[in-house]
Amino acid sequence: MKTINIGLVGYKFMGKAHSNAYSRLGMFFDADAAVKMKAICGRDEEWVKSAAEKFGWEGYETSWEKLVKRNDIDVIDITAPSNAHKDIAIAAASEGKHIFCEKPLALTLSDARLMYEAAKKANIKHQIGFNYRFAPAVLLAKKLIDDGKIGTIRHVRASYLQDFIIDPEFPLVWRLQKDVCGSGSLGDLGAHFIDLTRFLVGDFKSVMGMQKTFIKSRPIVERMIGLSASAQEDAPRGEVDVDDGSVFIAELECGALGVFEATRFAQGHKNDLSIEINGDKGSLKFVFERMNELQYYSADDDAGVQGFRLIQASEGIHPYMYAWWPTGHVIGYEHTFVHEMYEFVQAIANDTATCPDFSDGVKCSQIIEAVEVSNQRKAIVDVNSL
Ligand SMILES: NC(=O)c1ccc[n+]([C@@H]2O[C@H](COP(=O)([O-])OP(=O)(O)OC[C@H]3O[C@@H](n4cnc5c(N)ncnc54)[C@H](O)[C@@H]3O)[C@@H](O)[C@H]2O)c1
Repeated sequence: MKTINIGLVGYKFMGKAHSNAYSRLGMFFDADAAVKMKAICGRDEEWVKSAAEKFGWEGYETSWEKLVKRNDIDVIDITAPSNAHKDIAIAAASEGKHIFCEKPLALTLSDARLMYEAAKKANIKHQIGFNYRFAPAVLLAKKLIDDGKIGTIRHVRASYLQDFIIDPEFPLVWRLQKDVCGSGSLGDLGAHFIDLTRFLVGDFKSVMGMQKTFIKSRPIVERMIGLSASAQEDAPRGEVDVDDGSVFIAELECGALGVFEATRFAQGHKNDLSIEINGDKGSLKFVFERMNELQYYSADDDAGVQGFRLIQASEGIHPYMYAWWPTGHVIGYEHTFVHEMYEFVQAIANDTATCPDFSDGVKCSQIIEAVEVSNQRKAIVDVNSL
């Protein structure tokens, strides 16, 4: 069996999620190639060495430039913040490496397009980390929609709500700096429901948005772990130059209307991603914090027993569940990463198309940028005009 050698950039939140996915893959799935966790890369030698040992990587590098040039690496997986994606991806493509890149694809739409062009030119496999597509309940929703069970879709409403930066003294982490993340709540959180909407319902035609920065300056960050961070008591403050909250309405190519909201200022909501889709024959609702369930209403049910039913998508009949535990033994967040890596490995092993790929990343960046332009112009923006 072919072995695919992985080089991973980044060792924190997503670095750990991807490392876990690679190490679980062969244990649960019969992929057509094996993966070898060759090297993990970070700038701080002490930290990256310790991550390599803890996560099970064969070795480590302190420079991504060196990693992408290594002859014993087939895949470059990018889990650094958005400002690093373009240079790493373009260099990796020019070295003929396959690329997995976290979302959003790049700082800007034009950078995202450059990455997609480089990947196409190099004829390598490229995939983007829209992991929520790989929740079995989302795939069940996709099947029900494709089978016509909810009919013609009229409405989509999606939100992604968190509350971790409500405190004005929460430090100025990279997620609040435009030159590192490109976009705030919209690019970080909204990217996921934009992709889910495209996956389940279709492309966006036009958008109209409003964005707001509630806290305009914050103490300079001293230390970051996951989504938490600390600053010194008398730390100087720096400017927050991205959106804290974003709302927008949209028309989709299929004629449906959409309402969307991304914020990190929704007190009590920790990682509350939800999407509801209404068609003329039924409705579907997915809430990530109850990710093993899908709510489904069918207008075809008999009168008197109609109502939203709660489907457990944790049975072996549902996508990917065969690989895990006996029926009803639920799965979690980390499993979505194993599923996306399984598909990526299968595409490399069998020379088939990856999905979602960088073209999906470009489309997502186009919608993010359209909302930003709409907010500036106070006008409806045709997504394809950008
Ligand atoms: N799919 C998801 O659900 C999801 C969730 C969180 C984050 N993300 C995305 O993943 C990416 C990383 O986010 P995170 O939360 O893991 O960030 P993080 O801050 O936890 O980790 C970033 C890592 O990148 C490394 N890094 C930064 N610049 C580097 C460089 N020039 N060279 C080498 N390493 C470098 C850092 O040392 C760190 O290890 C972002 O694009 C983010 O939007 C996706």
